[in-house]
Amino acid sequence: MTGSTSSVRVVPTIAELREQLAERRAAGASVALVPTMGALHAGHLALVAHARELADVVVVSIFVNPLQFGPGEDLDRYPRTLDADVEALAGPGVEFVFAPTAAEMYPNGAVGTTLTAGRVGSLYEGASRPGHFDGMLTVVGKLLNIVRPDVAVFGQKDAQQVFLVRRMVDDLDVPTSIEVVPTVREADGLALSSRNRFLDPGHRAAALTLIEALRAADAAASDGLAEVLAEGAAAFGDHDDVTLDYLVVVDPETFLPVADDARGPAVVLVAARVGSTRLIDNAAITLG
Ligand code: PAF
Repeated sequence: MTGSTSSVRVVPTIAELREQLAERRAAGASVALVPTMGALHAGHLALVAHARELADVVVVSIFVNPLQFGPGEDLDRYPRTLDADVEALAGPGVEFVFAPTAAEMYPNGAVGTTLTAGRVGSLYEGASRPGHFDGMLTVVGKLLNIVRPDVAVFGQKDAQQVFLVRRMVDDLDVPTSIEVVPTVREADGLALSSRNRFLDPGHRAAALTLIEALRAADAAASDGLAEVLAEGAAAFGDHDDVTLDYLVVVDPETFLPVADDARGPAVVLVAARVGSTRLIDNAAITLG
């Protein structure tokens, strides 16, 4: 799809987007970027709503970035719903949807220069998905260079991603402020995710194990790390269809695992496979 739907202009090329944004900036407008891979849900719309509060012009990028999927991952099956996504963005005041092809983003095919996520990028999600965060940072770096936004908005559900993007912006002196919006959940606590659409009713029910684990971890927080880890992992005992990948407690400042006797603010990260669908979630806790 190219062109306009209601007030939204769908822009497939870098050159056109830059031209449009230059005009808006010349008129004094500030710009916010909401990077997405499409298959939009209410969690994305919360990012857009926040972006609207922060800047005059909101750009939503929709690009399923092949660089952040490893061999055997769900790149081919990742939902691509551009028309519905553009419809969903027509209401909330988005001016531009940047929807490039892979050839537009990576015209030379294999990318020669990539960003490297470093030590934290090889832990947790990075350990299960080698290269994922290098690919993610590379495309986010490109998007920040293309859009040159005053602010970019990310979701807390991808807590490790947020940490790494913030560090990259800091390390590379990128003049964009990074804003984070709390995770949007279903009424029963399931974190919204584009991958939830793959869950059949049985797996949808089983997916609640992640939030149950986070609640159990939070309830045990005053008893210290060992209890948090034990209670969190115990939530995974009941479901044959749910395989725990990791449940870790990290320091929010460093994103490294906390010490055994740690006290104070921490973040519990959890990832699990529910049927064939990989889900992640996290929660802030206070270790006592
Ligand atoms: O969070 C996502 O959807 C993606 O990792 C992002 C930030 C759009 C980069 O492809």
